[in-house]
Amino acid sequence: MDWLGLKGKTVIVTGGAMGIGGACIKGLAATGANVVVADMNEEAGTKAVEELKKDTAGNHTFIRVNVTDRNSVNEMVKSALKVTGRVDVLVNNAGINIPRLLVDPAGKEELTDEIWDKIVSVNQKGVFLCAQTVAREMIKTGDGGVIINMTSEAGMEGSEGQSAYSGTKAAVYTLTRAWAKELGRYKIRVVGIAPGILEATPLRSDEYERALAYTRGITVEKLREGYKKVSIPLKRNGKLSEVADLVCYLASERGSYITGTVVNITGGKTRV
Ligand SMILES: NC(=O)c1ccc[n+]([C@@H]2O[C@H](COP(=O)([O-])OP(=O)(O)OC[C@H]3O[C@@H](n4cnc5c(N)ncnc54)[C@H](O)[C@@H]3O)[C@@H](O)[C@H]2O)c1
Repeated sequence: MDWLGLKGKTVIVTGGAMGIGGACIKGLAATGANVVVADMNEEAGTKAVEELKKDTAGNHTFIRVNVTDRNSVNEMVKSALKVTGRVDVLVNNAGINIPRLLVDPAGKEELTDEIWDKIVSVNQKGVFLCAQTVAREMIKTGDGGVIINMTSEAGMEGSEGQSAYSGTKAAVYTLTRAWAKELGRYKIRVVGIAPGILEATPLRSDEYERALAYTRGITVEKLREGYKKVSIPLKRNGKLSEVADLVCYLASERGSYITGTVVNITGGKTRV
């Protein structure tokens, strides 16, 4: 049985070339949806679409986009419409994280204007630009739609060494609620997803781990041990495919009364 009813729907996944987005595109394609992989990384995005085409029948495509740039986002949506004629779901997933301290007395890893602006432009402005551009099209068709915003547990709890990141993710909580209030009249649902600790993605790069360990005054080895020791009631990290399953559910009509809220997917963990 096609329980989700996503077959033939068009879904844009920003940051879909790898990591959580990479898992989401696989999960969505497996439901029969047409998937638009929208990412800055052309090589990885093209490869991801080739893989999808091998395994599933949908009309999948890669579109290069920089979510921080309005023209680029406009072009992304135009190209997506050319391929499948409509956009039913947007997964606002592209995001970055650069650990820094608010104040570093040693002067090594302190938040600068440049890093602040970079994180805000991808995680916050990018989410705004994509939501606005896609919502305009959804309103034109009059068929409603779903916008899923990837936030983080850190957006609710704050995270040591990741204040700028946490701040942008907190903004995504409230953008989600506010947009749901504005777009409900057009049958557009807006839902957030807040993962906790997941299996590693490319976001957890060597440089990311080095900087985060520094901000916490520990070694990278201790930081890695911490991922395992952290108190998670389910006693394991989350799988990327588990986030993808939640995305598929929320994108589908099965989640038809869910809007203006953020769903935690943390194995029960509530503190960063
Ligand atoms: N990995 C985790 O444990 C975790 C936990 C909570 C929340 N999140 C959130 O989930 C999302 C995905 O995280 P991930 O770990 O898969 O990251 P990732 O670094 O593995 O992948 C991010 C993708 O976004 C793309 N991207 C980055 N900047 C872009 C831009 N300006 N325009 C278009 N594409 C861009 C990258 O090319 C990449 O393909 C992020 O919003 C992140 O904050 C991740």
